[in-house]
Amino acid sequence: MSQAQERPLLEARGIVYRYGAINALKGVDLHVGRGEAVCVIGPNGAGKTTLARVAGGLYRPAKGTLLVNGRPLSRRPHEAVARGIGSVLEGRHLFVEQNVRTNLELGCYHGNVPKQVVEERLERVMDLFPVLRKRADQQTSTMSGGEQQMVAVGRALMAEPEILILDEPSMGLSPKITGEVFDALAALRESGLSILLIEQNAPLAFELADRGYLLRQGEVVVEGSIEELTNDEVVRSAYLGA
Ligand SMILES: Nc1ncnc2c1ncn2[C@@H]1O[C@H](COP(=O)(O)OP(=O)(O)OP(=O)(O)O)[C@@H](O)[C@H]1O
Ligand SMILES: [Mg+2]
Repeated sequence: MSQAQERPLLEARGIVYRYGAINALKGVDLHVGRGEAVCVIGPNGAGKTTLARVAGGLYRPAKGTLLVNGRPLSRRPHEAVARGIGSVLEGRHLFVEQNVRTNLELGCYHGNVPKQVVEERLERVMDLFPVLRKRADQQTSTMSGGEQQMVAVGRALMAEPEILILDEPSMGLSPKITGEVFDALAALRESGLSILLIEQNAPLAFELADRGYLLRQGEVVVEGSIEELTNDEVVRSAYLGA
């Protein structure tokens, strides 16, 4: 394998993030290889959302570096999207007054993408989530929570990211809809997309991911393969009901 291929697609080194006096991330190292699915689990307040936002280039860390394909991310807004990072944020941040199609199209907004390519990408997203084809003209606020989550994932995919970062995609969704969303994530992963999944539901995260991290109070306390995490005493007692 060449050196370029060995380099992680996304690498966070020594990330420190503070909200005023609150130290939300205390020196976090994390990497996601090309084609890899990696999960971050951890309790409420562990710093998962903060990490998702730093990894997605949305928050600038006080210390540490974020490397994409081995190169640091600059401070320019939208650079993360241009460099192949797609984020699905907690709370989804959709334009709920607009219809589904418009929300999806907004995912291409930064790329100056030709109309025909936008249409092709829309087709791919709608193949992945057929309900969005049926509801393309429906106002997004009237979609169910699960359907809105599909719109949020679809919008991120419209920019053709190399890596998708998801912050608690199962939150508030029924098991059935969660299953549909995770089936789609598994299909994306099969197609070669890298995934960084932030998720409190460890058994669900472990089904999708190759590797994972347990974050607690702003620090990585356990990391390893899913097999290693599944056998770890701390992970077992806190997250797997063992
Ligand atoms: N805007 C903010 N201002 C001040 N403190 C914040 C802010 N956002 C988060 N924090 C604090 O930073 C820490 C990490 O928060 P974060 O939202 O990253 O945790 P989380 O792991 O995503 O939690 P949850 O599981 O509840 O979503 C917490 O102590 C939280 O109170
Ligand atoms: Mg959170």
